[in-house]
Amino acid sequence: MSPQPHDAVEVISAKRDGGALSSSQIEWVLDAYTKGVVADEQMSALAMAILLNGMDRREIGDWTAAMIASGERMDFSALSRPTADKHSTGGVGDKITLPLAPLVAACGVAVPQLSGRGLGHTGGTLDKLESIPGWRAALSNEEMMAQLESVGAVICAAGDGLAPADKKLYALRDVTGTVEAIPLIASSIMSKKIAEGTGALVLDVKVGTGAFMKDVDRARELAEVMVALGTDAGVRTVALLTDMSVPLGLTAGNAIEVTESVEVLAGGGPADVVELTLALAREMLAAAGRTDVDPADKLADGSAMDAWKAMIRAQGGDPDATLPVARESHVVAAGSSGVLTRLDALSVGIAAWRLGAGRERKEDPVQAGAGIVWHARPGDEVTAGAPLFTLLTDTPARFDRALAALEGGYDIAAPGTSYEPGPIVIDRVS
Ligand code: URA
Repeated sequence: MSPQPHDAVEVISAKRDGGALSSSQIEWVLDAYTKGVVADEQMSALAMAILLNGMDRREIGDWTAAMIASGERMDFSALSRPTADKHSTGGVGDKITLPLAPLVAACGVAVPQLSGRGLGHTGGTLDKLESIPGWRAALSNEEMMAQLESVGAVICAAGDGLAPADKKLYALRDVTGTVEAIPLIASSIMSKKIAEGTGALVLDVKVGTGAFMKDVDRARELAEVMVALGTDAGVRTVALLTDMSVPLGLTAGNAIEVTESVEVLAGGGPADVVELTLALAREMLAAAGRTDVDPADKLADGSAMDAWKAMIRAQGGDPDATLPVARESHVVAAGSSGVLTRLDALSVGIAAWRLGAGRERKEDPVQAGAGIVWHARPGDEVTAGAPLFTLLTDTPARFDRALAALEGGYDIAAPGTSYEPGPIVIDRVS
């Protein structure tokens, strides 16, 4: 056996002292960590040193490549149509993947979407879809390939073989206060997306109270790093910076977000959800070389809805089934008449999570019917005594903590107050 080229303390100390790690140090430490040769406490120290001292672009590229090399790479080049995927950095009421994947498929571009479950106040796409009776998240690579060819869209769980170094490292970062490092977030997201084998990628980088990135400069930096990583790996990558100071649409939860997504596919739904779905669809189609199709036509003519039903059926779900409804509800009425001028995404996200729509530990179950509906968006007139929020849960003991999360999370100004909504798409990075 050849001697180890590096040891963990040497690598940790190099980053602790503000140096750049060599390609060989990065390759070795991630391989050794995946195999259990570098211990969790050593990787925790290294992750904290990276959070505090950063990494240059070369290091981030090497780190991403080493994470990809820790597992398998998928290959969709045999498909008869181009592929494009979307990744959101996570927000409140962010159900966009649900209408977007079948919409883009209906436009002739295949969407291989590997999604996750929710942790904390941001919801998980798989949790939402699992509220549909019979639907299953786990597909083999062969099933995924067959569905991409027949339906054109798949939303499923990432298999264990994809970037296993990231799975292990992400779980560690979650419990060591090292999630927020831009090099680690960018390499975590992009290693999975590059290994997944999509030809084009659109990143929805959320900015605001309900997002990881609270300010636009850090969001832009994250977007630039991810776009560079994707482009260097041969994936046509663009990013939109989008607003997450207000939650998307009118619902945050699981089944209730599926219902809202189906409304969008039926040609209705909240204007902001439709706007963002179409903006991301246009970017995905352009990145895949299809500027000849207008996704708005595919919403209007019912073909996106047909693709949705086919996608749900292909994974065992019944798209026409009645969705689970929470056993208990509690209405919060507006305390005064006027104009809703603020609805804070983080407050709403925490309330939905506390009602049982999300989980505290990754092994916790979620409630399919739980969540929160808001009956007005900023700019809307509200009337004293009329419903402002409806809270939904199977466990009424959860209402008090959810109500506490909403306290101070919204403002109602005097009737007639003018309100200028900010843009949903704040910037584009390519
Ligand atoms: N999502 C990921 O997949 N990884 C991160 O580090 C943060 C968000």
